Amino acid sequence: MSKRTLSFICQNCGAAAHRWQGKCEACGEWNTLVEEGAERPAGPGRKPGKGRLFALEPLAGEAHDAPRLPSGVAELDRVTGGGFVRGSVLLMAGDPGIGKSTLLIQASAAMARAGHRAVYISGEEAVAQVRLRAERLGLRDAAVELAAETSVEDIVATLSEGKVPRLIVIDSIQTMWTDLVESAPGTVTQVRGSAQALIRFAKRSGAAIILVGHVTKDGQIAGPRVVEHMVDAVLSFEGEGSHQFRILRAVKNRFGPTDEIGVFEMTGAGLREVANPSELFLSERDLGSPGTAVFAGMEGTRPLLVEIQALVAPTSLGTPRRAVVGWDPSRLSMVLAVLEAHCGVKLGGYDVYLNVAGGMRIQEPAADLAAAAALVSSLANAPLPADAVYFGEVSLSGAIRPVAQAPARLKEAAKLGFTRAVVPEAAKTEGGDGGLKASFVASLSSLVADIAARGNRGTAGKNRGQDG
Ligand code: TYD
Ligand code: MG
Repeated sequence: MSKRTLSFICQNCGAAAHRWQGKCEACGEWNTLVEEGAERPAGPGRKPGKGRLFALEPLAGEAHDAPRLPSGVAELDRVTGGGFVRGSVLLMAGDPGIGKSTLLIQASAAMARAGHRAVYISGEEAVAQVRLRAERLGLRDAAVELAAETSVEDIVATLSEGKVPRLIVIDSIQTMWTDLVESAPGTVTQVRGSAQALIRFAKRSGAAIILVGHVTKDGQIAGPRVVEHMVDAVLSFEGEGSHQFRILRAVKNRFGPTDEIGVFEMTGAGLREVANPSELFLSERDLGSPGTAVFAGMEGTRPLLVEIQALVAPTSLGTPRRAVVGWDPSRLSMVLAVLEAHCGVKLGGYDVYLNVAGGMRIQEPAADLAAAAALVSSLANAPLPADAVYFGEVSLSGAIRPVAQAPARLKEAAKLGFTRAVVPEAAKTEGGDGGLKASFVASLSSLVADIAARGNRGTAGKNRGQDG
């Protein structure tokens, strides 16, 4: 009788331990170690120490031409870098209910309509449920091949027959299981084993496979983290429950850029592509109220205008609150520190809230200036001009540093009807202000003085807001 090797696998990060522990030593999560059967070696009957000989290839050689195929969903293609790469595997990660299945059935239908073989395997919903959704989305006529299956061996066997599909959607990887692994479906070992088998099939057949992965904060359900290292690209589908906007972002991409985003709107008839997201993000603007500034940002090659909202209010707590939605909290702390140290804006007695409108998440340091403007505007109770955009990076010395692609940002702002831009002084030399009236600021303190001078209480002091 063969002795089974058992190990304890962290369901959060996939680290293995020899004995059970309350806390995973790799990721520090508690109660995530579960005993799992080890994966059997892939090649049956292989003796240890004996390897198969293989030929080594030169770097220069035959490469497959046209390995990319556009999905037909432009916003998805923008994020993948132009379409699905033959033989590649992509992980589509996101919270449950965010719209992954909806997006992928729409992409499958677009592929099928373009005459390619597209297969959609659901491990979560019955065929009838998928059909019902397709009907709602107006996709009934698309020749997508459907199945409700969870066995990876069965799926690979079935899809090896006939014409190789160009696109295979596996919804979701957490529901799949393979005979090669003894653990229960949904555990890290099963998820990893199933993903491995599907990746091998993609490489062998040349089909592009999309694995859907639910992300949960709960460590008990195997996160698709372990799969991230194995696949060619990881796309994250994000959005806030209260907003209809959905943002698709590349977290990892072996074949394309990782800074492009795709913007969608969830409607009653599925996901609608948003070709001009700035218009959408600015559509709910609250003009003329203090504490809002429009940031002219860039997401990859596309300029994107978003509103940054700030609220600075006297605190009743010993330690004032700092809450941020859509921006990096450590960037906010830095901007607050620079305001305190170099501009005389004392915020120790105030709660500070910062929010990026529309559920957007900004990663650029170029948003510093807009965030600072919104914060000072709220504190001074001085609305900023409604027709102005802001961008610039704040350095620890209080200087405003130039940012990349200033002309593209200005052009987008001009296109959307903005007439003024508050930008770093260095943007002057880059030329091309897109027809906007530019105010150049060299330091954060001059911006603070400008905003304070607009304050409706008329005093030029830098630290007001509680004098009423
Ligand atoms: P779904 O694609 O099932 O999410 P996921 O696969 O990521 O779990 O989307 C579920 C949500 O989307 C659900 O709350 C309803 C909403 N929805 C619409 O608003 N309109 C639609 O046309 C569809 C199909 C779904
Ligand atoms: Mg789903």
